[in-house]
Order: sequence, then structure tokens, then C-alpha cells
Amino acid sequence: MRIDVVSIFPSYFDGLALSLLGKARDSGILDLRIHDLRDSTSDRHRTVDDTPYGGGAGMVMKPEPWGLALDQLAATEASDRPTIIFPSPAGEVFTQATARDLATREHLIFGCGRYEGIDERVFEYAAELGEVRLISLGDYVLNGGEVAVMAMVEAIGRLIPGVVGNPESLVEESHEDGLLEYPSYTKPSVWRDREVPPILLSGNHGAIAAWRREQQIERTRARRPDLLSD
Ligand code: ADE
Repeated sequence: MRIDVVSIFPSYFDGLALSLLGKARDSGILDLRIHDLRDSTSDRHRTVDDTPYGGGAGMVMKPEPWGLALDQLAATEASDRPTIIFPSPAGEVFTQATARDLATREHLIFGCGRYEGIDERVFEYAAELGEVRLISLGDYVLNGGEVAVMAMVEAIGRLIPGVVGNPESLVEESHEDGLLEYPSYTKPSVWRDREVPPILLSGNHGAIAAWRREQQIERTRARRPDLLSD
């Protein structure tokens, strides 16, 4: 899979060289490229923002650098029509289902907005180049799209076959079956007077599976009843 990220703060993404995603990049499973939006400017000051038409607080990202950056990235050999994602608190909410869907795409382009956002015409233009998605990490406001893209790239990247060594560990996670994950324990069996639930030491795999399922339902009811409502 090819992923391009456009940002005015490319060093935010240095962390993606670490851990499983870093390995996936090294092995060629994930072709992840980070681009500086200012490289697509043409003035001496490398300007990416300007004051909003109609007035109001803050600055808006100018369309020209975005147009150039998107033209270059959409024209790569990775796919005919990339999926172009703009993180935004005004977008659809990102879920595990979104991650699963995006993990099947050949080419994702993430455009990180800053300031009060990106000139609206950029989204219209991007729709001529690919499928445009505005996606929110949740109902809160970040200073820009970078942190949201880090989270999305990690959630998507780990679903690409071969990125997570043991694919079974993906199946038993929170949200994969609509429930929260069951609690986990390891050695020692007693720690600071706290025992591991005895059923887990029983060797009875059927009983363990049933107990874990109960725990998932109980936890989901207590912490995230919204997941059980439909
Ligand atoms: N940019 C600013 N806030 C955001 C959020 N909640 N999700 C995605 N992108 C954002």
C-alpha cells in the first residue's frame, strides 16, 4: 500500500519510523512518504495561509500549494484514483470499520490542515482526482491534522497483511467484534495479594472462552453502553 502525507510539519511523522510500521516500511509492505506542503509554494516566503474572505479570526490555508501537491501525488503509478483524506473535526468519525475499509485501498493521500482550515475549493478539486473523505478522530478539536493522521495511519497500517506478526492478535481486539476486549493477565499468578482469575489457570479452553465473552459484554455494558444499543 502507498500512503502519502502532506503537512507543513513533516517531522511530526518521524515516529512512524518506529515499531511495527517502521518495519513494514523497511520491508516494503508499506510505502509511506511524507511531504512538506511548503515545497509546493512558489513565493520567496513559502506562504501557505492567508486571511479569510468575509472576515473572522485566524488564517485559512491557500488553495494553490494544495492544488500542486495533490496534482503531483495523484499522478503517481500507485493507483488511478487515490483516496484523499482530510482530517477534520467536521468530518465523519473514524472507527475500526473505517480503518478496515481504508486498509483495502491501494493509495491513500492524507492532507493535514492547520489554522482555521483549508480553502473549501481544495476539497471540490480533490474530488476530481480521487475519492475525498473528511474524517474526524472524535468530538474534540486538535491544533491541526497531524496527530489525527498519525493515529489513522497506525490504525490502518496494522491491518495491512504482514504488518502485525500474529494476525490472530487482530481478531481478539477491542472493536473487532463490536465489544471491548476482555482483561489479560500474565505471570506471576499472585501479585501483591491479587490473584489471576482461577478459570484462566484451569486449562478448560471452552470455559475460558465463555468467561472471556462474559467479561467483554460486562465491560462494554459498564464503559461503552452505546456500543450495545443497536
Ligand atoms: N483536526 C482538528 N481536530 C481534529 C479532529 N478531532 N479530528 C481530525 N482532525 C482534526
